[in-house]
Amino acid sequence: MQPLRGRHVLLGISAGIAAYKAAELARLLVREGAEVQAVMTRSAAEFIAPMTLQALTGRPVRDSLFDPQHEAAMGHIELARWADVVVIAPATADVIAQLAAGSAPDLLSTLCLATEAPVLVAPAMNQAMWRHPATQANIGVLAGRGVDILGPGDGEQACGDTGPGRMLEPTVILAAIEQRFVQGRLIGKRVVVTAGPTREAIDPVRFVANRSSGKMGFALASVLAAEGAEVVLVAGPVALSTPRGVKRIDVENALQMHRAVFDALAGCDLFVACAAVADFRPVDVAERKIKKTDEVVTLQLKRNPDILADVAARPDRPFCVGFAAETHDLEDYAESKRRAKGLDMIAANLVGASQGFETDDNALLVIWEGGKVALPTQNKSQLAVELVKLIADRFDAQTATQDS
Ligand code: PMT
Repeated sequence: MQPLRGRHVLLGISAGIAAYKAAELARLLVREGAEVQAVMTRSAAEFIAPMTLQALTGRPVRDSLFDPQHEAAMGHIELARWADVVVIAPATADVIAQLAAGSAPDLLSTLCLATEAPVLVAPAMNQAMWRHPATQANIGVLAGRGVDILGPGDGEQACGDTGPGRMLEPTVILAAIEQRFVQGRLIGKRVVVTAGPTREAIDPVRFVANRSSGKMGFALASVLAAEGAEVVLVAGPVALSTPRGVKRIDVENALQMHRAVFDALAGCDLFVACAAVADFRPVDVAERKIKKTDEVVTLQLKRNPDILADVAARPDRPFCVGFAAETHDLEDYAESKRRAKGLDMIAANLVGASQGFETDDNALLVIWEGGKVALPTQNKSQLAVELVKLIADRFDAQTATQDS
C-alpha cells in the first residue's frame, strides 16, 4: 500500500521550534513516493534552513508571493491547483489565525485560500497560546470548514512548560495524510482486533501462556488499516512491530485484554478476536518466586472471562469475527463455538506441532450463517487479505439487510 505514490503534497512550514521536524516529515513523504513542495513563511527560515528542505524534496523552497522567477515557472495559483493536499506542519497560532480570518499576507496563507485541496494543520505552540480563547475559536472555525486539525500532542515543551501544544510526530502526521488517499472498503469503520497470547502470572518470574506469535492478528490489523478502517490492535506480549496506521495497546494478561477491548469498543463496527487468550489463570499469584522445595506443586486455575463472548453479548455489539483453534473435528467445533458465542463469522484453523501457531503460513475454514469457504494454506499476510474480503462482504450484506 503506497497511497501517496505520485501525490502532490504542499508542505507549509511556519515559524516554530518544531520546524525541524518538518524535515523528517518531508523525508517520509518523499520515501512514500509523494512529490513534495515546501512553502515556508519568511520567519520559518529562522528555525530551519530552506536548503535542508530543498535537498530532501528535490525542489527549491517557495517563500515569496512576489518572486518573478518562480511566478514565471509555476505561479502561486498554479501551485495551489498543483497540490493534492496541503499540510501545514508546524502551524503556529499566527498562521492558524490568518487561515481562520481568511487573510493572505504571504505565499502560504494565499495558497490556502486559493487551493481546493484538503488542508491539514498540525498546530505547534506554547501551551498557554494553544489554550487561549482566540486560538481555540480559530481552531473551531477551521474545523468547521473541514480543515483536519492534527493534534497537538501533550507534554514537555521547548519553552520549559508542560501541556498541550507539541506538534505531533512526523510518522503520525504522515499516517493522517495517507488516510486521506486510502481507497478501501472499510473507510470510516472502526475495528478492534486482538492478537497474540496472554500471560497469566504464577509468580513474579513464571507464567502460563501459549505459542501464539501474533503474526495472524497483526497481519489482519495491517490489511484492515489498508482497507481504510481505523484499527485499534490490542496485543498480548509479542515481538512484532506495529502495522502502519494502527493504534496498538499492549497488554499482558486476559483481564487486561478484556479491559482494553471494552475501553476501545465505543463506536466500534467490527471486532476481530484473533488472540489466543488463556482460558484459565492461577487462582493465587505468589508474591515471591516459588522455591523448588517440593517434588510436586499443584497449580489451581480459574476461568478467565471470555472476551469475545462478552463483546458479542452486548446489545450494541459490533459485527463479531472469532477464531477457533482446534486439533481435530475442525468444522464441528468451530460451528458450535460460532453458535455458542453468537458470532457473525468464525475463522477456524488446525493447530498443533507445526501449524497455526508461530508459523508464517496458515489455512482457514471460514464459516458464517448459511455459508462457508476454505482458504487454502498460504502466507498469513495473503490469508489476511482474503479473510478481510470475506469479512467486508458479510459486513456489507448484514448492513444492507439492516438498512432495508
Ligand atoms: O498468533 P499466531 O502464531 O499467528 O497464531 C495464530 C492463531 C493460531 C493464534 C490464530 O489463528 C487463532 O486461532 N486464534 C484464536 C486462538 C484461540 O484462542 O482459539 P479458541 O478456540 O480457544 O477461542 C475461540 C475464540 O474466543 C477466539 O476468537 C479467541 O480469541 C476468543 N477467546 C477465547 C478465550 C477467551 N477467554 N476470550 C476470548 O476472546
